[in-house]
Amino acid sequence: MATPNFSFSLRFLLSPSLLLLCLLCSLKKGYAYEGRETTESHHLQQSHVVQLSSLLPAAVCNPSTKGTQNRRASLKVVHKHGPCSELYQGNAPNHTLILLQDQARVNSLQSKLSNSNQDNNNIHASAVTIPAKDGRTVNAGNYVITVGLGTPPKQLSLIFDTGSDLTWTQCQPCAKFCHAQKDPIFDPTKSASYTNVTCNSPLCNDLTSATGNTPGCSTSTCVYGIQYGDQSFSVGFFGKEKLTLTSNDVFDNFLFGCGQNNQGLFGQSAGLFGLGRDKLSFVSQSAQKYGRAFSYCLPSTPSSTGYLSFGKGGSGGGKFTSLLMNSQNPSFYFINLIAISVGGQKLSIPASVFSTAGTLIDSGTVITRLPATAYAALRTAFRQGMSKYPTAPALSILDTCYDLSKYSSVNVPKISFFFSGGVEMDLDSSGILYVGSTSQVCLAVAGNSDDSSIGIFGNVQQKTFDISYDVAGGKLGFGPGGCS
Ligand SMILES: *[C@@H]1O[C@H](CO)[C@@H](O)[C@H](O)[C@H]1NC(C)=O
Ligand SMILES: *[C@@H]1O[C@H](CO)[C@@H](O)[C@H](O)[C@H]1NC(C)=O
Repeated sequence: MATPNFSFSLRFLLSPSLLLLCLLCSLKKGYAYEGRETTESHHLQQSHVVQLSSLLPAAVCNPSTKGTQNRRASLKVVHKHGPCSELYQGNAPNHTLILLQDQARVNSLQSKLSNSNQDNNNIHASAVTIPAKDGRTVNAGNYVITVGLGTPPKQLSLIFDTGSDLTWTQCQPCAKFCHAQKDPIFDPTKSASYTNVTCNSPLCNDLTSATGNTPGCSTSTCVYGIQYGDQSFSVGFFGKEKLTLTSNDVFDNFLFGCGQNNQGLFGQSAGLFGLGRDKLSFVSQSAQKYGRAFSYCLPSTPSSTGYLSFGKGGSGGGKFTSLLMNSQNPSFYFINLIAISVGGQKLSIPASVFSTAGTLIDSGTVITRLPATAYAALRTAFRQGMSKYPTAPALSILDTCYDLSKYSSVNVPKISFFFSGGVEMDLDSSGILYVGSTSQVCLAVAGNSDDSSIGIFGNVQQKTFDISYDVAGGKLGFGPGGCS
């Protein structure tokens, strides 16, 4: 029974200002592009012929069937604001806003990483701040899956995120706030299998590394709080519940956040599915069954589908690069980017530019960020390859844009990313161009302000590849043609 004392402490624990305080205290701790005279056949080899229509999402969903066979557990992956998603409301995405949110996430990741390296209390590093609002009006450029929670299982659409660990969903009674979501809000009292984690359970302490915040306690129930780069946050009870991916893939006692105060840019989704590598992530909690292996394919447009599968069996194209562990940032997946080519020509970027900054792969960052020197070289070469097309104004953080409204097909220079271990990732054309509209089609890569901030390999560049994470084996594979 709720005593006045309890409701006071609950309200206190669920207040965002307390969470911010906790966050504050926890934070203490000669490129030369050889201008080539290309013959037509050579040119065709080194460029993609792109039908502009193929980059635009269709009005109806055209699902892919690949990935759902021969795998232990495969879930459909859809883009949050396309016709394949039940969260889609038919409105055109605001690309300026998506890219601003993306920059906010990147600022937050970079400041987290530099804080743990240098211990400089740098919370105001973000140049861009986004008002955290009711999620109905905003769209983040992210991907969602649907899972079943509870007994009987209730379907929930969750954003999947390799850049965070804790899985959470909004829960009744939404003591403080729940954003609008498409699925009915999960009600633990209607499930036969929900239990609270107590404050004195060692599991409660695991929240500190999974969320970056010390857990709270409310009448002996463990309370989590997590804030994301764009100032979205979720606070609530830490619970255990039955999680159902498919009829053969059921997890009793899955640890998750039962959110009582959830505000921010989650769209119509019910919450977040954490695929980082820390202890509380789904990858770690399902390690016995899947051996810390998973793979996904992100579709080329929001009107097609991809998959997220668990267990080994991702094709990976046979080529793997090392997954690097950074003990100060144990959640993130670091990889060794070593070179980039444009139109078949390797850019002459000193290897130290990539190795100094380091690179992580993230499903929740939209646009790849490169060290300033590397991006400058890429941009110069790409502009040369696109010189016959009329330019267009910058789209937020994307500074290399073209007006292609008068063309039905264009020649776009191929771009490859090279990773240690002999992996060449020849980007799909959907991974090269970001289409604001046909009159504003941009190179989908951005530069960091210097060469010291971490590089991030974002989800646009990952499109259409089967990306296989063998976390236990310490390797990551890229297989082309993953979704189709
Ligand atoms: C898109 O978002 C930006 C940034 O929040 C805002 O300034 C702009 O008015 C929005 N555009 C539309 C059409 O809503
Ligand atoms: C979980 O703990 C909260 C806070 O103490 C309480 O309100 C809720 O009823 C508990 N739920 C269950 C199923 O025990």
